[in-house]
This record gives sequence, C-alpha cells and structure tokens, in this order.
Amino acid sequence: MVWSALLCHPVWVAFTALLAFVVRVQRRGPWLPRACPVRLRGKTAVVTGANTGIGKFIALDFARRGARVILACRSEARGTAALKEIRDKTGNADVHLRLVDLSSLDSVRGFAERILAEEEALHILVNNAGVSGLPKQITKDGLEVSFATNHLGPFLLTNLLLDLMKRSAPARIVTLASVNHKKGQVDFSHFHGENLTYHMDAIYNHTKLHNVICTKELARRLEGTGVTANSVHPGIVMTEVLRHYPFTVRVIFNLVGFFFFKSAEEGAASSIYCSVAEEMEGITGKYCDSDCSLVLPAPLARDAALGVKDFEISERLTAKL
Ligand SMILES: NC(=O)c1ccc[n+]([C@@H]2O[C@H](COP(=O)([O-])OP(=O)(O)OC[C@H]3O[C@@H](n4cnc5c(N)ncnc54)[C@H](OP(=O)(O)O)[C@@H]3O)[C@@H](O)[C@H]2O)c1
Ligand SMILES: *[C@@H]1O[C@H](CO)[C@@H](O)[C@H](O)[C@H]1NC(C)=O
Ligand SMILES: *[C@@H]1O[C@H](CO)[C@@H](O)[C@H](O)[C@H]1NC(C)=O
Repeated sequence: MVWSALLCHPVWVAFTALLAFVVRVQRRGPWLPRACPVRLRGKTAVVTGANTGIGKFIALDFARRGARVILACRSEARGTAALKEIRDKTGNADVHLRLVDLSSLDSVRGFAERILAEEEALHILVNNAGVSGLPKQITKDGLEVSFATNHLGPFLLTNLLLDLMKRSAPARIVTLASVNHKKGQVDFSHFHGENLTYHMDAIYNHTKLHNVICTKELARRLEGTGVTANSVHPGIVMTEVLRHYPFTVRVIFNLVGFFFFKSAEEGAASSIYCSVAEEMEGITGKYCDSDCSLVLPAPLARDAALGVKDFEISERLTAKL
C-alpha cells in the first residue's frame, strides 16, 4: 500500500522523467553531423549496405551535403526504396544504386569494374555493410560467409578502388568495425570456416578485429598518398543487426535499447565524423570510438607484424586465380 502510493507520488514521476531525460541526452554524441557545415559538392562517395540501419543515415548525410552518392546494396528492391527516400528527403538527384553482394568476390569485382568505368573520382568510401549471427556456410570462393561479408569482400572492394581514390586525393576510407573487436582472435584457418565456435558472437568479434587490423595496415601502405583509412565503432545501435537472432533476444535488445542504445541516425555520427569532419583531415590509421574520440584499439590491432601478415593473407585469398 505504502509502496504503491509512493510509486504514484508526483515527485517519483518527475524524478523518473528527469532520469529518462538525462539518459536520453547522455546518449547523444558530442559531435553532431547537422552542426558540421562541411559541404561535399563535387565529391563522390560510396556507402556499402546503405539501404538500412547506420549506412542509410551515412548516405543521407552525404546526400544532404551535396555529394554524388552511390548506394552499394545487394537487394535491388531494398536499395531502390532507400534511393527514393534519400532523394526525396534531400532533394539531391545525384544519388544512385549499384548492386553488390559483398560475400561474393566475383560480385565485388563486377561492382568495382562498373565504378571504375563510370566514376571519374572517388573521395569517400564507407565500408559499412556487415552481418552478425549467420550460421556457418562456405561461399563458392571457399570462404566462411561472415568473414567473406565483413572482412574479405570489403577488403577486396577497397583494394580495387584504391587507384581511383589515390587519383582523387584527398580521399578517405572509413570502415565500420566494432568495440567487439577487442574480444576477437586471429586464426587464419577461420577464413575457411575451420576451428570456429559459433556462440556469443565469436565470429562477428573475429571479423571486426580483422577490420581494425587491416585498416591500420592499409593506412601504413597509403602513407603519403593523401588517402586516409580509419576504422570506427558506431556504438550499440538499434538497427536490423540482430535480424538473424531469436525473437526474444531482439525484443530484449530493443526494450533496453529504447533507453540506452543509439538510434541508427545517432550511430552514423562517428562514421560521418571520420568521413567529412575537418578535424579528421590527414588523420589515418586510427580507431574512432562512438563518441568521435580517437582511442587505442585492442593490442592485437596494434601489432604491426600481425597487420602485415593479415593483409598479405587477405590479399592472397582475394586475388584472382
Ligand atoms: N548495430 C550495432 O550495434 C553495431 C555495433 C557495432 C558495429 N556495427 C557495424 O555497423 C555496420 C552497420 O550495421 P547496422 O547495425 O546498420 O546493421 P543492419 O541494419 O543489419 O544493416 C547492415 C547492412 O549491410 C548489408 N549487407 C549485409 N550483408 C551484405 C552482403 N553480403 N552484401 C551487401 N550488403 C550486405 C545489409 O543489406 P540487406 O538489408 O540487404 O541485408 C544492410 O544494408 C556493420 O558493419 C556492423 O557490424 C553495428
Ligand atoms: C585452433 O585454435 C586454437 C586456439 O585458438 C589454436 O591453438 C590452434 O592452433 C587452432 N588450430 C588450427 C588448425 O589453426
Ligand atoms: C564478443 O564480444 C562481445 C562484446 O564485447 C562479448 O560480450 C562476447 O562475449 C564476445 N564473444 C566471445 C566469444 O568472446
């Protein structure tokens, strides 16, 4: 009786509302894309996985800044819907859809060929597309599907577009990794689906570690070219990222997330920061946290020798035979 009366007390209600407000405000990052005046007219950007989630908001931001934006998506239907939405919201007609399935090396090669044939320049490449929780499957390239989608496909795509980006310098490559990379391990037999345990997001964690390692090594190789490469953590973001997880897991994620996690738009901030902010000009080989601060990634991601090895093995696995 006393408790229920207490819970209904206006002070309690006011306090709860205040707490919810504080939590909500805390969630907002310190760097707001909309407050950044940088314009991208005359610049071309490619965003992979731009039909939903974080990628859609990254592409929307670039379109608002006047860039020519290429949405690199695997589904014609979902890609077309996003294309229409972005054109409508920004009034920018220079937004285009090109299809690519990042889990297939042939598809990545076909996509890159078309970009190289059609585009005169490429100033921003955002490797955003990624998956989590996929069951084990080996692609026709002999690669485990999550490693192909999250690491080797984007790795090949980036390498195929490098010369164009060098010619377009200054240019920026931004790869969406995750704080989960800290729990990842490097074992090159993983790429072929060997020695893997599918629990607690282990596969995802490994793939995101390769993202950070290879982005750092790429940055080293790109020194002096005017092309920068950084990896980012978007935060814990309410998107479709858990689509392969059980219903109950998704309900809990979204319930908790309503108060504590970022919206897809908020989750796009650190990627947009690395892609356009003047503060990031010339900065390369870094790992950017969800609040747009440059922080140290996991020790494995700072091991230069491991970086060289990972890059070489990834190159070999994605080379045309
Ligand atoms: N959400 C988070 O909390 C979180 C945290 C850390 C890092 N991240 C990273 O942020 C990035 C974006 O994630 P999100 O949360 O926005 O996820 P999402 O809502 O699931 O969106 C993922 C995007 O990637 C695309 N994609 C997946 N597999 C693909 C393939 N084989 N070929 C081409 N495109 C493919 C999806 O296309 P379809 O719609 O056609 O499937 C979709 O557009 C990912 O790299 C993720 O690892 C997210
Ligand atoms: C499998 O993983 C374990 C532990 O990470 C490692 O010691 C071992 O060398 C791996 N096996 C193969 C075949 O790579
Ligand atoms: C993967 O990373 C998440 C987040 O850091 C962690 O909760 C989970 O335990 C990790 N999985 C493994 C197998 O290490």
